[in-house]
Amino acid sequence: MHSENSEVAPAGSVAVAVRCSPDGRLRVALPEASVTGRRRLSKVAPSPKPESSHTLLLKTSIVYFVFGAPCSVTFVAVITDPDVHFKLVFADRKLGAAAALVDPDLVEAAPSHVIAATGADALAHAVESYVNRGSDPLLAALTIAAIRIIGGNLRAAVETREPAALEQLMLASTMAGIAFNMNANAIVHAASTPVTARHGVPHGVANGIFMPPGLAFLAPACARELREVAEALGEAVSGLSDEEAAERAVEHIRTLLKSIGIPATLREWGIDAARFDIPQLVEDAMKSRNIATNPRPVTPADLEELYRAVLG
Ligand SMILES: [Fe+2]
Repeated sequence: MHSENSEVAPAGSVAVAVRCSPDGRLRVALPEASVTGRRRLSKVAPSPKPESSHTLLLKTSIVYFVFGAPCSVTFVAVITDPDVHFKLVFADRKLGAAAALVDPDLVEAAPSHVIAATGADALAHAVESYVNRGSDPLLAALTIAAIRIIGGNLRAAVETREPAALEQLMLASTMAGIAFNMNANAIVHAASTPVTARHGVPHGVANGIFMPPGLAFLAPACARELREVAEALGEAVSGLSDEEAAERAVEHIRTLLKSIGIPATLREWGIDAARFDIPQLVEDAMKSRNIATNPRPVTPADLEELYRAVLG
């Protein structure tokens, strides 16, 4: 059980300065206190000699500390306005990183509950990008592969912190990030984001809570795609209708998320129902770019029903 004021998962990355010397080698400027991995970045990319006057300051660069928010491969930045309790999403190619260090060693220091939450977020990115209207065969190949990898490694990454599982999650998170950056997410992210902004539920936890009911809502419009999701997660769906296979996908995800400690409802997380302003949350969610791309049209009434179900 967590209260609404409990620890929020750390940001997915930090911006650092990267300099490129004339011979093409990189030097990373990062405060030592920020380095939580076992490998020092200065040893990853040493400068062979003192910086010369020819050193070139590159664009924003990204170091990756958790899964989920792959800003190393997206053009998206999110800023929470605490005065109006709203998460503002900015998308522009200028926000893309010039370089990124995607190193699973840096994730080893993250607590298990952060790996669970950010892994759930990565799974949401992969599934929502796969089923949404902006998908195409190239993105589908990336997202289905990411779903297969996350399904096979998330639990081990949380429970045993096995380096191979963390590495696979890092890879899949990056693949899902490339995909959703090219299209969008869907109702899960649209509905969860206002809950994070107004109640402080960490992004990945909120997406984990919204994922089973959100995908169940979408299922009538994308049963065939959810059948593929079920198969990627290892479900035997031969002989089942698309609708039955889609249900298997939703139930598989529900069970997986429960196994890594993601609560089933917001009340279970500690949300006070008396402070849960559904009309306000619906209004906020309808402003999301992730509303228009859903395979099934989303109305305010649909969101109201989803919020009631997710509150528990
Ligand atoms: Fe996300």
